[in-house]
Amino acid sequence: MAGSYYLRNHWYIVAHDYELTDGKIVARTICDMPVAIFRGEDGKVGMVDDRCPHRYAPLSSGEVNGNDIQCGYHGIRFGRDGACKHIPGNLPVPKGFGTRHFPVEERHGFIWAWLGEKAADLAMIPDFSENKKEGWKGVPGYLNIACNYQLMVDNILDLTHVVFVHKTTLAGGGVTDTPLEVKVEGDRVTAQRMMHNVDTANIYRAARGLNGKIDRWQMFEFLPPMFVRINLGAKEAGADTPMGEPVHRVLNCFTPESENRLHYFWTTARPWGLDDPKVDEIYRTMIDLAFDEDKRIVERQQRLIDVDPANAHLASFPFDRAGQEARRILRRLMNEEQGAVKQAAE
Ligand code: FES
Ligand SMILES: [Fe+2]
Repeated sequence: MAGSYYLRNHWYIVAHDYELTDGKIVARTICDMPVAIFRGEDGKVGMVDDRCPHRYAPLSSGEVNGNDIQCGYHGIRFGRDGACKHIPGNLPVPKGFGTRHFPVEERHGFIWAWLGEKAADLAMIPDFSENKKEGWKGVPGYLNIACNYQLMVDNILDLTHVVFVHKTTLAGGGVTDTPLEVKVEGDRVTAQRMMHNVDTANIYRAARGLNGKIDRWQMFEFLPPMFVRINLGAKEAGADTPMGEPVHRVLNCFTPESENRLHYFWTTARPWGLDDPKVDEIYRTMIDLAFDEDKRIVERQQRLIDVDPANAHLASFPFDRAGQEARRILRRLMNEEQGAVKQAAE
């Protein structure tokens, strides 16, 4: 495990856009930091420490007032920039009195927050556009999972497990006998498994009416700190359409809550059946069931690792390679970031 260090100079998804409606304030712990996420009346989103600098009441227990967040204890207000905007009784604001705030960007239907000291770099937000793109329909979801985020990165980069874990939804022919082809370019890992003339899977039977043999693909892309874009699809075996045209994309982010707990934000987006609520329902129920099965297994893994963490040496086989490469990249980036922090302190 990477321990409780989290990469700071990166974006993390901290909420779905639909969570911030009707003046709701989302209280969430991100990388061990309790934060309050809110949308001002002008529609822009802010994220501040969920700790009022007056007497440490949680700001999330207050309310949104205009574009500010107002503490629920004595009514002091803070802007999205963390600055104190008002103290009841119109008392003067002491110099420097405010709360920590984070750069936030709303994009692709997600709220992204930058946790680092370096200037936030918008170019580092990955392309999750299919969630909201014209001609696509996204079905989003969320789970809170009690495991280190690396176990979920491993899980999603090794879809061999669909045969054993997701028997009623994603399991199908060809998966265990087709090697995973893995490529590493810089900080990016890509992997794919192309399967020909194999038994169908229930999800393709239900969503696409593919009952016989299929040609099927699993294509992945990992980007730090913990984003995984997946292109999954199937067509009738031998049909004259190219392999790799996505039937659906699953866009995933595993934001650490703490060392052994994470927020799983995802969407399953498809470029067909856009106005068909039955298809939405198929994706919602099948993906929710499958991800719940993942949650059950990784949480049990984590509990067993925790019995004796120092001696928890995980073995790896070729189908684990994409996850291994992702771990290597994260370790290197963490060493670089921690090294830079140490140097700055000296
Ligand atoms: S604790 Fe927040 S206003 Fe007093
Ligand atoms: Fe899974």
